[in-house]
Amino acid sequence: VPLWIILLAAAGIILLAVFLWWLITATEGVYLGRRAVIWLYDLYATRYDAIKQINPRHEAVYLAQPILDQMPRVRAPLVLDVATGTGRLPLALLAQPTFQGRIVGIDLSRRMIAIAAHKLAGYSSRVSLIHHAAEALPFPNDTFDLVTCLEALEFMENPRAVLRELARVLRPGGLLTITNRRGLYARLMPGKVASNDQLAELLRGDLSLERVEFQGWQVEYQIVRAIKPGHSLPAGPRLLPEIWQCPACGQIEMVDEGDNWRCAACGGRVPVGADGVIEADSSSKKTR
Ligand SMILES: C[S@@+](CC[C@H](N)C(=O)[O-])C[C@H]1O[C@@H](n2cnc3c(N)ncnc32)[C@H](O)[C@@H]1O
Repeated sequence: VPLWIILLAAAGIILLAVFLWWLITATEGVYLGRRAVIWLYDLYATRYDAIKQINPRHEAVYLAQPILDQMPRVRAPLVLDVATGTGRLPLALLAQPTFQGRIVGIDLSRRMIAIAAHKLAGYSSRVSLIHHAAEALPFPNDTFDLVTCLEALEFMENPRAVLRELARVLRPGGLLTITNRRGLYARLMPGKVASNDQLAELLRGDLSLERVEFQGWQVEYQIVRAIKPGHSLPAGPRLLPEIWQCPACGQIEMVDEGDNWRCAACGGRVPVGADGVIEADSSSKKTR
């Protein structure tokens, strides 16, 4: 075989390997659609924490404490963590003695949220975990004191629509905390990562949020904070049945029956996994 054919084949194989690395590892399947992203998170779930090398002391100092510092007057906030993954944000907040609130975590990867359930088992009275997509949140407008979504928006098909959902369920005066990717990997995700100016414009313009600030956080991510304009009383540590809309009829009438939740309005049922995770992902067709 002539040398030029061998070189051409080798170049082709290298290019293919680089392309697959970009498609699957660098961009976590986002250009292949939501199912691919979730499939990859399911696949990597057991290794996620080891890959991230999350350090509890750093989480306390650089994640939980700055959030609590932003909400000095809300001692027991009601928190929604969208794309909670293996429970990083709930764990960081609950480890703070000054945090007296309740947290709802949602994620579409069943295996990621199963690990969150395992890690958060000691806090089960203060955390509810729901297997659910970020795109349509099952809560009324103006519900939560704090809405967070860390290291996840860029892996969603329509981050702008999800941001709208996050702002919708945040109460007036509530705090939104998200992340924006930066560095090499951000440049490898064209059309998926906004510049700070674009994101600020979206938060201030389209979503009418105020006091938008960016803060360095990790090499790969910045923390972005914003406040929903207006004032309302803190939601406080409300329980899930007070805020969760039935996936079938939208009413807030869900009754806890142990291994499932039943809607008192329409009779729809949502099962609960053995690990306590509420199985409300509509694509799994388990409701009603
Ligand atoms: C990089 S992890 C971040 C997890 C966690 N927030 C953290 O900081 O460790 C991204 C998470 O987003 C979740 N995710 C991606 N797309 C989603 C969607 N459309 N709805 C809900 N969760 C989604 C994935 O399952 C995964 O757990």
